[in-house]
Amino acid sequence: MGLELRNIHKHFGPVRANDGISITVETGTLHGLLGENGAGKSTLMKVLSGFHSADSGEIVLDGKKIKLASPDDAIEAGIGMLHQDPLVFLPFSVIDNFVLGSPGGWRLDRRQATAEMQELCDRYGFSFDPHTPSRLLTVGERQQLEIVRLLWLGARVLILDEPTTGISADQRAKLFAALKSLSKEGMSVIFVSHKLEEVADLCERVTVMKRGKVVGEADMPVPPERLVEMMFGQAVQIRDRKEVAHGKSRLTVDSVRMATGLLSEESTSLEVNAGEVIGLAGMEGSGQDTFLRICSGMRSLKQGSVTVAGKDLTGKHYRDFLAADVKYLPAGRLEEGLIEGLTITEHFVLSGEDRSFFIDWAQARNRAVEQVDHFAIKGTEASTVESLSGGNQQRLLLAMLPHELSVLLMEHPTRGLDIESADWVWEQLLARREDGTSIVFASADLDELLRYSDRILVFFSGRVIGELDASSTNVDEIGLLIGGRSANPELSEGSQ
Ligand SMILES: Nc1ncnc2c1ncn2[C@@H]1O[C@H](COP(=O)(O)OP(=O)(O)O)[C@@H](O)[C@H]1O
Ligand SMILES: [Mg+2]
Repeated sequence: MGLELRNIHKHFGPVRANDGISITVETGTLHGLLGENGAGKSTLMKVLSGFHSADSGEIVLDGKKIKLASPDDAIEAGIGMLHQDPLVFLPFSVIDNFVLGSPGGWRLDRRQATAEMQELCDRYGFSFDPHTPSRLLTVGERQQLEIVRLLWLGARVLILDEPTTGISADQRAKLFAALKSLSKEGMSVIFVSHKLEEVADLCERVTVMKRGKVVGEADMPVPPERLVEMMFGQAVQIRDRKEVAHGKSRLTVDSVRMATGLLSEESTSLEVNAGEVIGLAGMEGSGQDTFLRICSGMRSLKQGSVTVAGKDLTGKHYRDFLAADVKYLPAGRLEEGLIEGLTITEHFVLSGEDRSFFIDWAQARNRAVEQVDHFAIKGTEASTVESLSGGNQQRLLLAMLPHELSVLLMEHPTRGLDIESADWVWEQLLARREDGTSIVFASADLDELLRYSDRILVFFSGRVIGELDASSTNVDEIGLLIGGRSANPELSEGSQ
């Protein structure tokens, strides 16, 4: 007996978030759902918990087909979900939040509810004061409260979507212990994560998703490199692009170390020539993102130097890097690259190369109209950026790139885009490369890394563990390095 998802499809416009997914979760198992950001995990779990209705597909629980039109339907069927996004709590006490949404509602016996909540907390090693205002709870405690509430409502299937984000190591240990005892008692637990180590620590079985599809399944334990291979894909090596001759040195990063955080243990160096494309591989948070920020002048260094086109920019401001035609496109589009509430026209004003004192609105609007058309952005010059889809935000960022571009630094340039949009983005990027722009990009997609890079730097645990020639390396080699194992044993020493 158990839970079965059959051929679930869920599209958002052109994005196939779930593209025919079938998964079986046996009763009483701790089942991991692993995949990089954008793989479609949250969407699938929202379908399973009644927040989204699928375009097609079936959900079968203990042999019976069930229809879930709302989260209430799901909890009625015994399926409860802890969401990835911060939980929204009303300004009530813990106990009021606890009884909220229960069938008895406000008429419920609060004394009894408190006692029952306390008992559940004791049983699973959670502790928080039922009478404190919920807003005073830590993220970890809110999670504990939500788990206890779902149990109390009768959940038999518990879904946790990236539950370890923002909680302490101590709370994580508590959470994992509770999940283990719950599964021993017969609860089916679906643990969603993009972190391989967590799934390896906790789960008995794992399903790996990529780009809206199931790409692998395994009973644990399996070697980490096998999981890496599933997560990042067995890319077929297609290098059908035009080779371009590389020019003079554009960006030199020499023995950099950061004062704090990643890259503090060892130094990293890289030399990039005009027209060269460098891919940065690694698990999320292995140092690639920090490295890109160093290259763009957004992080200061403890040691080392950064030189752009022969000019030493070490210790200089981000603006000086911009003036040297170094441009950085972050992954968190709305957080870092675009400004919520401002229209496309206003973005062109801000990014304008025209530095005169008065804003020429007519000119900015004309340029916006022209670029919306040229980059096929679905929206108008008056659209605010948050009303655009992810793919169209990415197009806007590309449209705003300055004409003169020496070095382009990017995080996950095609993450979350459908295949057509992703191909289109790379068409634009490769055209830039032919003009001599150097490109350094981080990606979680081995396919993308192998296809578009000249060289690939693999990051592990805050440092570069290997540098590979993209035309001669293969998925296995990269996979091993991403998981922290080097073919050269001296390099991987101390990395485990
Ligand atoms: N409500 C939504 N509207 C439009 N696109 C969405 C929505 N939710 C998710 N997506 C898109 O679906 C894809 C899968 O997202 P998601 O399920 O959140 O992946 P994961 O949880 O694995 O990171 C992404 O490309 C994302 O941008
Ligand atoms: Mg998610």
